[in-house]
Amino acid sequence: MVTALCPGSFDPVTNGHVDIIERTARLFDDVIVAVIRNPQKTQSLFSLEERQEMLAEAIGHLSNVRILYFKGLLVDFAREYGADVIVKGLRAVTDFDYEMQMAQMNQSLSGIETLFISTSPQNSFLSSSLVREVARFGGDVSSMVPSPVAKHLAERFPSPPE
Ligand code: PNS
Repeated sequence: MVTALCPGSFDPVTNGHVDIIERTARLFDDVIVAVIRNPQKTQSLFSLEERQEMLAEAIGHLSNVRILYFKGLLVDFAREYGADVIVKGLRAVTDFDYEMQMAQMNQSLSGIETLFISTSPQNSFLSSSLVREVARFGGDVSSMVPSPVAKHLAERFPSPPE
């Protein structure tokens, strides 16, 4: 059995993430969606529990996918759970440098390989950070995120800030 790892902050999960996870679940027997406990990039908008709950609602239909959280190094988590490969979505050249660096670092630390899946064109402009920003200022993100996420965002940002 081959176990694939889809790691991320998922703050919040977008349609782009769901697409990559669904495609990964078609390629591998067992998929672990690994939610990082403390995202480094920003103060997270949603708590770990909220991020996990929204993911569960968005990908609960995939029977070979588990959602777990991790802290520390991804490669240590991969080793602990016997994951064989890391799978990431690649949007554009802007993603490439950093993703390549992380893939090489993880390979050098542990030998684990990273495979990239190209993002579907309709999702290529999507990122959690842009979705957060648009939602914060009252923009409509309902076509960009699973409906439970749109609901959570509307609750979090009931009206645009002054
Ligand atoms: O959704 P994101 O924020 O792009 O996900 C980034 C993530 C969580 C996959 C990455 O930051 C990560 O793997 N962090 C764990 C710490 C780690 O292993 N750092 C070394 C990476 S080379």
